[in-house]
Amino acid sequence: MTKSRHLIVFGTRPEAIKMAPLVHHALSQTNWEVKVCVTGQHREMLDQVLDFFAISPDFDLNLMRPNQNLYSLTADIITSLKPVLEDFNPDYVYVHGDTTTSTAAGIAAFYSGAKVCHVEAGLRTFNRQYPFPEEFNRTLTGKIADYHFAPTPTSAANLKRENTAESAICITGNTVIDALFKGLEIVEQPNYSNPEIEQLKNLLDPQKRLILITGHRRENHGDGLEAICKSLSQIALANADVELIYPVHLNPNVKGPVNEYLQGISNIHLVDPLAYPAFIWLMKRSHIIITDSGGIQEEAPSLGKPVLVTRTTTERPEAVEAGTVLLVGTDVKLIVAETQKLLDDPQQYEKLSQLHNPYGDGKACERIVSFMNQIQHGT
Ligand code: UD1
Ligand code: UDP
Repeated sequence: MTKSRHLIVFGTRPEAIKMAPLVHHALSQTNWEVKVCVTGQHREMLDQVLDFFAISPDFDLNLMRPNQNLYSLTADIITSLKPVLEDFNPDYVYVHGDTTTSTAAGIAAFYSGAKVCHVEAGLRTFNRQYPFPEEFNRTLTGKIADYHFAPTPTSAANLKRENTAESAICITGNTVIDALFKGLEIVEQPNYSNPEIEQLKNLLDPQKRLILITGHRRENHGDGLEAICKSLSQIALANADVELIYPVHLNPNVKGPVNEYLQGISNIHLVDPLAYPAFIWLMKRSHIIITDSGGIQEEAPSLGKPVLVTRTTTERPEAVEAGTVLLVGTDVKLIVAETQKLLDDPQQYEKLSQLHNPYGDGKACERIVSFMNQIQHGT
């Protein structure tokens, strides 16, 4: 029997985390021939994930350039994928979410004649500029895709409102929860040890509450990031009994200002991006999370951690509606006030730290594979 051919494409850290469990599920299908192509839109931050999830890509386009721009990256992904698509000739190409890799790979896959499968489909803020360019990317990928894996009923409803055929949509939960549960299973083993986690244990004071920060959104580069840094330094200086830790994204537009504003404050630790197991450990160890990350908004509710999101809109409204994620934008006063409230008011802390899983149950990849098997069998 001839096998159907499936190409899974990704390029950045979050796509890799969210596609890793799908790669393993797809590889376990005996009637599928599966290949993985990484664009290398990210390099070190992608390699950390490939290493943890033991994925060896069949194709590595190795495209990352220092301080790259959207124009050349988009063009490079499309042109570099042509020989890969011609060589493997996949029936199905899987792309993820809203990055440049996802949209450019979707375009290339469409040109090749393959069916495009969009994982994490249907997220919307309904504002093309926020987040930039992600809202545009995922909307465009939604137009290209043949099959849409929507994480939640809300994302599925967004797709239906855009006239996407109901039969092409499957509600799966977000694959990040599959990745998180797998990661927790490993990190929580009694004898698990990891040098990065040991370093964090040595760095952090076990007596002090910990605030974990990440940030990288393009629309926050410049003034927004400056305001976030000002807030963090105020929080640190006003709370000597609290520690802040910030694994700093490698984008020079983030790394430069963060180092400039926050280096030298004794209770702020600036560290390099962490591999996924150490980051999961750190999320669990933290008291509060301040972030503009999409993936962390999804993971934190499953860990019962309150999140202050340094954005004014989110495509992930489920946890905001449930009251465990609060949008604080980049307003210094608001960020400082809401953080202080969480530090000082046990009731407010309790309210925001309810454990729940609005984004998935860890079985998203199982549902994706099962939907694709039904499609192939015409059932
Ligand atoms: C990208 C995605 C964003 C996603 C984010 C996750 C686009 C347009 N942006 O943003 O949607 O939320 O990844 O982190 O697709 N760099 C390194 N090493 C790395 C990674 C990045 O040095 O491993 C530096 C390079 O100088 C690179 C720059 O960061 O040129 C920007 O990378 P890029 O992928 O273009 O943008 P991100 O801000 O990472
Ligand atoms: N993450 C990680 N190491 C870090 C910071 C984040 O492994 O130092 C993980 C995090 O748990 C989440 C993902 O990276 O799964 C989020 O990536 P990012 O914030 O870069 O992108 P976004 O989700 O905003 O697209």
